[in-house]
Amino acid sequence: MAETSDSMRAAVLDAPGPPEALQIRELPVPVPEPGQVLIKVKAFGLNRSELHTRLGLAEGVTFPRVLGIEATGVVVQCPGGELDPGTQVAALMGGMGRTFDGGYAEYTCVPVRQTVPFASDLDWATVGAVPEMLQTSYGSLTIGLDAQSGQSILIRGGTSSIGMVTAVLARRLGMTVLSTTRDPARVDALTDIGVQHPLVDDGDVAAQVRRLMPDGVDAALELIGTPTLPDTLRATRVHGVVCFTGMLSNQWTVRDFYPIEYLPRGVRLTAYGGDASDLPPAVLQEFLDAVAAGQARVPIHRTYRLDEIVEAHADMEAGRATGKLVVLP
Ligand SMILES: NC(=O)c1ccc[n+]([C@@H]2O[C@H](COP(=O)([O-])OP(=O)(O)OC[C@H]3O[C@@H](n4cnc5c(N)ncnc54)[C@H](OP(=O)(O)O)[C@@H]3O)[C@@H](O)[C@H]2O)c1
Repeated sequence: MAETSDSMRAAVLDAPGPPEALQIRELPVPVPEPGQVLIKVKAFGLNRSELHTRLGLAEGVTFPRVLGIEATGVVVQCPGGELDPGTQVAALMGGMGRTFDGGYAEYTCVPVRQTVPFASDLDWATVGAVPEMLQTSYGSLTIGLDAQSGQSILIRGGTSSIGMVTAVLARRLGMTVLSTTRDPARVDALTDIGVQHPLVDDGDVAAQVRRLMPDGVDAALELIGTPTLPDTLRATRVHGVVCFTGMLSNQWTVRDFYPIEYLPRGVRLTAYGGDASDLPPAVLQEFLDAVAAGQARVPIHRTYRLDEIVEAHADMEAGRATGKLVVLP
């Protein structure tokens, strides 16, 4: 069973600001109530959502706040008895790091319903990179796109951590994967994870796609946002589906939306925004087992210590990562 102490180190944000606004502080270890679980955090991934919070772009966040919409670790206490102490769990979403303190700490206390149990001998950096990435990619493929074996998929924003895991999942599903980067030097990062058609984003990806597939792709995942969405829609076949999941450009609204002009004939537009319940324990377990067996790869850019959180956030903001940034508290 994991041991607990009275105090813990955490990265706290008092108000939106630059990376340096994240300060390491000593806080009391939270005390779980029935329905909650106290987790000793072994690793957590960094997410754009936390960047939005730090920049003051997120709605409904209250301060001071321990950021972090996800964490992985080991159950320390669970007063309601839903989880046994020592169980490995991922915790994610549900207001974590936004309306209550999240994963940027040595311990985190979350509602049991926000957790997904698993069992794995993988190192914590690898496990810690997975939950939010996998939930978003899996949710986008299943709920957003209804992706099927044998179909083609275009991933717009392919070198992002979500883009890379989606490529891994799509290949495992038996899809043909086309994936974009703005940087020709990153094409190899795409082929390395199994992308068959890496594309350098010149703003007219639709033309590149239609040279390969004249009718367009069956499915497309939009991760850049509304600046590229019309072109992604043009790359997609009649009755194909585009799922809007990400907005790396920090632009996510369409002004004066006139559907007949905006949407190509017969192309379907959906969106995905997820929760922990979209990641069934069996899906997390199957993915971790596949990684352990060498059948799937987790794209990790770099690991950091908790006291390197400022550097980690600066790297995320500058777009220096090709893959997930992971912190080991
Ligand atoms: N809907 C949901 O439930 C959900 C959940 C989690 C995340 N998300 C969203 O998914 C997106 C991806 O997140 P992530 O954490 O995987 O990202 P990430 O790993 O931080 O992505 C970094 C990469 O994105 C590309 N990029 C950055 N800024 C860009 C811009 N202005 N235009 C085009 N490309 C840009 C760069 O690739 P190149 O230089 O190679 O082009 C960069 O290397 C984010 O928008 C995030 O908010 C959504």
